[in-house]
Amino acid sequence: MSADYAARYGLSAAEEAWRRKAQAFALEEVAPLSREADRAGRFPRALVPRMAALGLLGTPVDTAHGGGGASALAAAVVAEELGRVDGSVRGFLAVHVGLVTQTVAQFGTDEQRRAWLPRLLSGATIGCFALTEPGAGSDAAAVTTTVRDDGDHVVIDGEKHWITNGGVAGLAIVFGTADPSAGRKGIEAWLVPTSTPGFEAHPMDGHALGHRASDHARLVFRGVRVPRANRLGPARGGFKVAMGGLDHGRLNVAAGAVGIQAACLDACTAFARSRRQFGQRIGDFQQVGALLAQMRVDLEASRLLVHHAARTLDRTRGPATAETSAAKLFATEAALRTATQAVRLHGARGYDDALPLERHYRDAIGLTIYEGTSEIQRVILARDLLGRDDPAADGPREGARGHKDGAR
Ligand code: CAA
Repeated sequence: MSADYAARYGLSAAEEAWRRKAQAFALEEVAPLSREADRAGRFPRALVPRMAALGLLGTPVDTAHGGGGASALAAAVVAEELGRVDGSVRGFLAVHVGLVTQTVAQFGTDEQRRAWLPRLLSGATIGCFALTEPGAGSDAAAVTTTVRDDGDHVVIDGEKHWITNGGVAGLAIVFGTADPSAGRKGIEAWLVPTSTPGFEAHPMDGHALGHRASDHARLVFRGVRVPRANRLGPARGGFKVAMGGLDHGRLNVAAGAVGIQAACLDACTAFARSRRQFGQRIGDFQQVGALLAQMRVDLEASRLLVHHAARTLDRTRGPATAETSAAKLFATEAALRTATQAVRLHGARGYDDALPLERHYRDAIGLTIYEGTSEIQRVILARDLLGRDDPAADGPREGARGHKDGAR
């Protein structure tokens, strides 16, 4: 189904060029490293300068900031092609580009952009997004990392965990509270060079089920002093910075889930054609044919949801939070179903890492959890429908986007 991708899905010539570039990079340069990187549990850092040279570290970043100026759709198809081959490398990009570079471009001052964007785009500095804490996962507003005024500096103390790229990053966007009594209205985002005294990065304890070649770290901040000029976004406005960053990251995750499904469906189709049992191709057994048909429908629906969210972003130039949540929810759950069936359909072959299917299966579970679980995506979608409760009002509630135009 990939040869006529651009025509089937209405990609512009520029978007198709981005897709092909990412596809060639993924197949020729990433795929040969994937199994060993997964086995070793080590991020293949040598790929970073290559991604920079190809422009993949800044695909959707404005040309005015030195990025590729590509559409959100182009960034999504880049993520799909990388996700088709390697979830850890795709995850690196989701964080470095979606959560960090785009967030600095969106919320940074001119000075902050000048200081950090060239380094992020060239790969000289890797970025991480330090939001999650042991006690603040789904409830992102519950962060307990503190930000305390100290003259023309602030001092940050606390701990983060499961921070992708945390051990290789040169820049962390750290979310902390300037007023623990204010809940999410006390949260601020700070640009913290990881070389700052008091900043520690430790590998996570344990051995992750999936995304084993991702660098996941526990970060500890002990009296980390950074200049006041390093605040990203408004005072006490860090929660919206976090949510805005996650809007980009989640679309990348959803597109990666499309890639996993495409890889699994390709492998299953080829195997169902070539593998013979009981005197016929296994694909000709109705149970296997039905499985392939369901995988195809799931893939198509997931891809269209991702493209719809991306096109909404491109059209409105504003947030597409609900569209992105719908895409992430559906595509990641579908990737888990499809990868599970792909392993089983291949029998013992699928259970072994000679094929990438068991890796896709392990990675797919992670996609339903990180950057907002499936349950959190449902919360976002339900709130988008219902709006805030206003018992005094009669009729549609304030904030509800409702069914007025029949679009939902
Ligand atoms: N963009 C901008 N603003 C947004 C927004 C968005 N996408 N979503 C919400 N907001 C705003 C709301 O409009 C609201 O603003 P006002 O105060 O002005 O009304 C404010 O933020 C609060 O919104 P909610 O009432 O919805 O907040 P909540 O506390 O109930 O939480 C939530 C909402 C959706 C559950 C949120 O907490 C959430 O997304 N949780 C999941 C967090 C998550 O995904 N964590 C994974 C991070 S990944 C990581 O850290 C590791 C890594 O390496 C990547």
